Parts: sequence; structure tokens; C-alpha cells
Amino acid sequence: MEAKLKQLEAEALAKITEANDLKLLNEVRVAYLGKKGPITEVLRGMGKLSAEERPKMGALVNVVREKITEEIGKKQQELEEASVRKQLESETIDITLPGRPIKTGNRHPLTKIIEEIEDLFIGMGYKVAEGPEVEKDYYNFEALNLPKGHPARDMQDSFYITEEILLRTHTSPVQARTMEKHEGIGPVKIICPGKVYRRDNDDATHSHQFTQIEGLVVDENITMGDLKGTLEVFAKKMFGEDREIRLRPSFFPFTEPSVEMDISCKICGGDGCRVCKQTGWIEILGAGMVHPNVLEMAGFDSKKYTGFAFGMGPERIAMLKYGVDDIRHFYTNDVRFLQQFAGQE
Ligand code: DAH
Repeated sequence: MEAKLKQLEAEALAKITEANDLKLLNEVRVAYLGKKGPITEVLRGMGKLSAEERPKMGALVNVVREKITEEIGKKQQELEEASVRKQLESETIDITLPGRPIKTGNRHPLTKIIEEIEDLFIGMGYKVAEGPEVEKDYYNFEALNLPKGHPARDMQDSFYITEEILLRTHTSPVQARTMEKHEGIGPVKIICPGKVYRRDNDDATHSHQFTQIEGLVVDENITMGDLKGTLEVFAKKMFGEDREIRLRPSFFPFTEPSVEMDISCKICGGDGCRVCKQTGWIEILGAGMVHPNVLEMAGFDSKKYTGFAFGMGPERIAMLKYGVDDIRHFYTNDVRFLQQFAGQE
């Protein structure tokens, strides 16, 4: 019996060594240690042994059973570790692969133009002011010397919300609001960028919503010369030192005198082309000396204080600077259009 047990043990150990996956190992376990296995059989036959032999045999069976159990345990651990190792190897990450480029956005061309203009004027001591897009008729028109029924109101078709409230048609109401806050005490030196709205049919040069930047300086002894000098610095910084400016007489109810500023056309050098409509000049903005009525309505003494103001459209400036032929490109947000401005910081 002892010899049979030793043989069983040797056989089992050989099978354990051979078993190269967990399923086979489990089959060996069932075959040798299971209820129908040879060890159980030996145990069953113990009843036939003598009283002296029984404990000896019992101990031996236990030793063999433990040995097989232990070896199965070891092998199981080995197989499990191997399987984890294999899985890890198959899942390793190749850190030498180049990374996928991350898609980044870029600032909108209009934002860039607005920030560029803001920086330029901040450098000249201006503060940035803001006002509401939903505006009172009073600030949008009346405080700017455009009383109800004034024919010049028709120049700016408006979106009215009530009789007294509208979407602002220009950034000029911020002039009136800022002056009012100063309570008649200068100086005032601001630029106000923002969105404006007009009842226009959208086409290549018109949009029902666009942006403007307003400028206002009020102080003692401000003259048209200050206005001209400021606009010249702006035009040269924005479009190039080689640009000329010219002021043409114009009309705005809130300025007197009023002018429009043109810059010399870079494309044709002044000879005349399609962009400058054969004139050699390109219109950039409206400006003028603040009308005494506007100063007085906002609480400033027009005998003591004078001022100048200007208003420009960043879309128009961006179109000229970057050669954009349709204002709608700024709002349709086609990434192919927007991406062209990436990196042009
Ligand atoms: N508010 C005018 C417009 O939208 C532009 C403008 C012209 C603003 C002359 C001014 C100015 O401040 O002085 O057409």
C-alpha cells in the first residue's frame, strides 16, 4: 500500500509538472484529490488494516495528499502569474509613438482686431468703457442730439423693443453714459468696444449685428488738431507707417464739425483700384468735435470743456487688413475661415 501511495504521488507530481494551463491543472486536482480519486480510495480501504498499521498509513496518506495539494497550489500560482505577465506584455504601450496632435482653437479675427485697438488706445492713456446692448432711446439718440422725429434717425434703422427701449444701433450711447457719470468734471478719455444692431438686410457688406469701437476725449482745450493727431497715430499703427490719412467734411448730429477719415489705398498706392473704388482712398471711420448740446445734456459746461469723438467698425478694419471680401464670414464661423488667423498673434 505504501508503495502504491508513493507511485500515486510520483504520478500526480509528474502530471502537475506537465499541466500547462489552469484548466488541465484543475483536471489533475479532481483526478487525484477528488471524491472518486485514488487517494480517497486508499482511505476507504484503511478499514481492512490492522490497528497498528492504520495510524501509520493514515499519516502517510495525509503527507501524500498535502504534498500534492501544495504542488498544485504552487503550480496554480505560477500559471496565474504567467498569465498576468502575458496579458501585461500584450498590453504594453509603445511610448515612442508620436502623440496625436491636440486640436486647439484660436482667437476670432474680430476679437484680435478689437484687442489690438484697445491696446493701442490704452497705451495712449484711454480707459475701456462698456454699456448695455439693450439701450434706452434717450442714450442711443436723444442725448446724442437726435431728438424724436429727427430725420437723421433714419440713417440707423433700429430694432425697437418698446417705444423707449431698443437694441443700440451704435456704441455712441456709451459716450453719453460715461460723461453723465463724470458729473461735469473732466478729463474723460475712453474707448468703448461692443456689439451693435441695425435692421439691415445681410449681404457682403451689411450685417444686422456687427461691432463698433467708439472713442471719446473731453477736457479743457481739446481741439480738432488733437483729433487729427490721434487718428493719424491710430491709422499708421493699424495699417502701416506709410499710410496717409485725410479728413473729409461729413455730418453726424452728435459732432460739429464732423468728418470722415480715409486712409490711402495700399493696394494701388493711390492710383485707383477696385478696393478703393478708383479714388485712391479708403473710408475708415466717422469722427468730429463733440457737439455742445451733447456736452451740455451730459452735464458738462461747453464753454469750459471741448472734446472729440470717433466711431469705427472692426469688421471693416479686419476686412481691409486681412483682405476679407464678405462680412458674413465673421459670423458663419466656418473653421476653415477662422483657422487662417491662427498664430497671427
Ligand atoms: N455712431 C456713428 C455711426 O454709427 C459713428 C460715429 C461717428 C461715432 C462720429 C462718433 C463720431 O463718435 O464722432 O455711424
